[in-house]
Amino acid sequence: MKKRVWSGIPIVEENTKYYSLKDELRRMGKPYYKRLVHSIVNNNILQAPGFVYYKCSSRAKDEKEISACFEKLSSLIGDLNDRYGKLYAVEDHRGDYMDSKIPISMTNQETGMHTDSSAHDYYPKIVGLCCLQAAAQGGELKLCNGANYFADSLISSPEIIRIMKQDFIRDLITPGKEKSPELLKLNKFPIFHMEDNQFLVRYMRYWIERGTLEAGEFLSKDATQAMDHFDEYLNDPSNSLTIKMQKGDMVFFNNEFLLHGRTSYFDSAKLKRKILRAWINLQV
Ligand SMILES: [Fe+2]
Repeated sequence: MKKRVWSGIPIVEENTKYYSLKDELRRMGKPYYKRLVHSIVNNNILQAPGFVYYKCSSRAKDEKEISACFEKLSSLIGDLNDRYGKLYAVEDHRGDYMDSKIPISMTNQETGMHTDSSAHDYYPKIVGLCCLQAAAQGGELKLCNGANYFADSLISSPEIIRIMKQDFIRDLITPGKEKSPELLKLNKFPIFHMEDNQFLVRYMRYWIERGTLEAGEFLSKDATQAMDHFDEYLNDPSNSLTIKMQKGDMVFFNNEFLLHGRTSYFDSAKLKRKILRAWINLQV
């Protein structure tokens, strides 16, 4: 169990690596670099704290160099999933995910705390984010440890955990994939899964509620209350980290036990938030 209570700024500092673009791009070609990356994955990402933060210390921050650095580092960590393209651009397309078919990643709205992917057959083990441009206002990244909640609630609220170990329908949102009530009913899996001491949390409340509704089913009062309890934990600032990524910063985090979210944001004419996302699976 990857249990560790967050401690705000100190935990970010402990897990921050400073890099300069040109030096890092040069180092990436060396044989020792891959070993270095694997040790970071094993020591920081696969176990507590579950993330590593790369802070760009270069004075000149060229967008192409930042992207190249992020792509190379991501592909040294593991295999890049390409169902949304190997590097997916998260930016505001001026829509509302609640009343249109666009994903929340294409809006400037606040996201609830979640894990990535609502598909039954796929989730990325590691998510990488790279900031090409910070928003003029807002757009902070939030991280919270779902394994801590699970471990605490197993003792204090076992009934809630029992409910969340049941299957929940999730919306089908992969572009180009067919959607029907029958297919939605097949796209269901638990919020918490624990087997052979392997912990997995898969949660995005909005996709659960919309998927369930569109499948013609309803959530029980107990299920709603269980999610309320989880959300209360996730939204308590003392349980999460909030980081404003700056241009050139990268973060890689474990999508099996950490949940993430972002605050709403506003772009200006000059500063338009742009984040690259990579979904990474480890070579087995
Ligand atoms: Fe996400």
